[in-house]
Amino acid sequence: MYPGNQIDCSTGSPPASAVPSCKVSEGASANAGPPIGVTISDASSARSDPPSSARFKEAMARFATGVTVVTFDAGGEHGGLTANAFMSVSLDPMLVLVSIRKASRFCTHVRKGDHYGVSLLTGEQREICNKYAGRPFQGSILLEEMDGIQVVAGSLAQLVAQVVDIHEVGDHLLYIGQVRTLAIASGSDPLIYFSGEFGDFRSRTGDERQSLRLFWPDMAVE
Ligand SMILES: Cc1cc2nc3c(=O)[nH]c(=O)nc-3n(C[C@H](O)[C@H](O)[C@H](O)COP(=O)(O)O)c2cc1C
Repeated sequence: MYPGNQIDCSTGSPPASAVPSCKVSEGASANAGPPIGVTISDASSARSDPPSSARFKEAMARFATGVTVVTFDAGGEHGGLTANAFMSVSLDPMLVLVSIRKASRFCTHVRKGDHYGVSLLTGEQREICNKYAGRPFQGSILLEEMDGIQVVAGSLAQLVAQVVDIHEVGDHLLYIGQVRTLAIASGSDPLIYFSGEFGDFRSRTGDERQSLRLFWPDMAVE
């Protein structure tokens, strides 16, 4: 084992026998090595517990995300769920993806060709997130219609996507949707989810941006 289980590339290579295995992609030079100053840790000798599902969930919870409410209106029924497994997939065509547990009501109602709505929640919409996650909820929710789908009013952005593909992956379905309509609000900050807790992200004020510019003159200041 290489001392400390780490290789500091600025101090040269360890003996070949001690180098943790690493893959060099095709076309890349095996001799080039990582850039100076990059440290590679030997993950196999770090805390490598067997990947129980609890541990997997714990690791994934370290990935901070925004929070969305994904909605459907099918057969006269409105429904939806809170989801953070949302991402944009392609710009041309404009595609998004949401990963939904197979047992969810969404999956029994939404088929290829149907539409679904995605509302990106603001920091003030935490209660709405609880409601769509099936948790105790107080208050009321204001919905508005967009392209035939109810979306959450006052969200950071709302979009309606048409399902172009559904992939069954493990215990989830991946819904790839082509974006048909979108709306963007201004002036609100997002709801953040990290390690099982909700948090806030606050945009910098104009004054804060200006004072940062004193330290980093090249920083773009709107
Ligand atoms: C912050 C947060 C993020 C969530 N993300 C997802 C997700 O991406 N996919 C999913 O299937 N469930 C997710 N859930 C769980 C669903 O919101 C929850 O199971 C919901 O009750 C499912 O709706 P249903 O009762 O109609 O099936 C999330 C819950 C929370 C609180």
